[in-house]
Amino acid sequence: MLVLGIETSCDETGVALVADGRLVRSNVLADQQTLHARYGGVVPEVASRAHVDLLHPAVEQACALGGARLSDVDAVAVTVGPGLAGSLLVGVAAAKAYALALDRPLVGVNHLVAHVYANVLDHGDLPLPAVVFVVSGGHTSLLAMDSQGAFRGLGQTIDDAAGEAYDKVARVLGLGYPGGPVIDRLAREGDPAAVRFPRALLEDGTDDFSFSGLKTAVLRHVRETGPGANVADVAASFQEAVVDVQISKVIGVAKREGLDTILLGGGVAANSRLRDRLAAEAESLGLRLLVPSPALCTDNGAMVASAGSVALERGETTPLDVSADPNLHIIPGFGRRGPRRQKRRAR
Ligand code: KG4
Ligand code: ZN
Repeated sequence: MLVLGIETSCDETGVALVADGRLVRSNVLADQQTLHARYGGVVPEVASRAHVDLLHPAVEQACALGGARLSDVDAVAVTVGPGLAGSLLVGVAAAKAYALALDRPLVGVNHLVAHVYANVLDHGDLPLPAVVFVVSGGHTSLLAMDSQGAFRGLGQTIDDAAGEAYDKVARVLGLGYPGGPVIDRLAREGDPAAVRFPRALLEDGTDDFSFSGLKTAVLRHVRETGPGANVADVAASFQEAVVDVQISKVIGVAKREGLDTILLGGGVAANSRLRDRLAAEAESLGLRLLVPSPALCTDNGAMVASAGSVALERGETTPLDVSADPNLHIIPGFGRRGPRRQKRRAR
């Protein structure tokens, strides 16, 4: 079974061909980052226009690289939400057109579920039940997954998402957009104990997260110390505060829920400090940790094809009149409300 996966929920035009839910035949990313970098964040109108220009060529490239013709595709999987409305609409409209023209089934995929199923591409069938931690530019969601597709919401951010905090702090430090990868790199040269930034909601017995106070603390620190501050030390100290909280909550939930498997996903799961420290912690406790390879953590079409393949195996398809849903939740009522906030800096 060959599935075409289409991802356009934010600023990445991702198209992939995945065979039998496992084998990535091609995974094309038409990067829009240079387009958005000059605005310091994603500009929704620019993103949707770029998806329109980039999507069809990306499909052609995915076929060429995957050694397949479009007529070889057995089903079309597409992200239907959550995300930016205009961006989602482009992918959903295109996926419907491909499904109709090819006379193949359409499968609508939740973007956050796709982040979780990216693990299948690297590690095979998901060992369940498990703790699931999706950390991206728009979400910080801590869940339990009891069986395929059966999620229980445990904790979420009450303000900024983890990736949003990385992006905002990078802006404060003058490091450009997106902030996660550059802070990750710079932090390796810094001292994570140089500045003691706050760890919010750590001792409060809640599974929820809060990152906006941390961002403000970094801003205040930079203002107080001035341009002479060691940026690598600040980056490393900020990152350490984020990772401390993430690890404490994820491990805490695993222990409390009696779950010995942890599934990580989302762009922030590419963070090397989070990966290394959580792996060490999990190993010392005898827990199994699955994380996708960094390239499959950030948005891509292969994870959509992967989640779509699982749905198809369960006989689930989506009618052609489906709409994009910017506010789609992983569980009704759980998850951040509304589409990801526009990240453009106010000018
Ligand atoms: O999952 P993703 O590609 O898009 C969304 O669904 O939001 O996540 C993007 C987020 C951005 O905020 C970016 O700064 C962050 O993931 N990110 C990272 C790293 N790579 C990407 N954050 C920390 N460390 C990284 N290495
Ligand atoms: Zn994402």
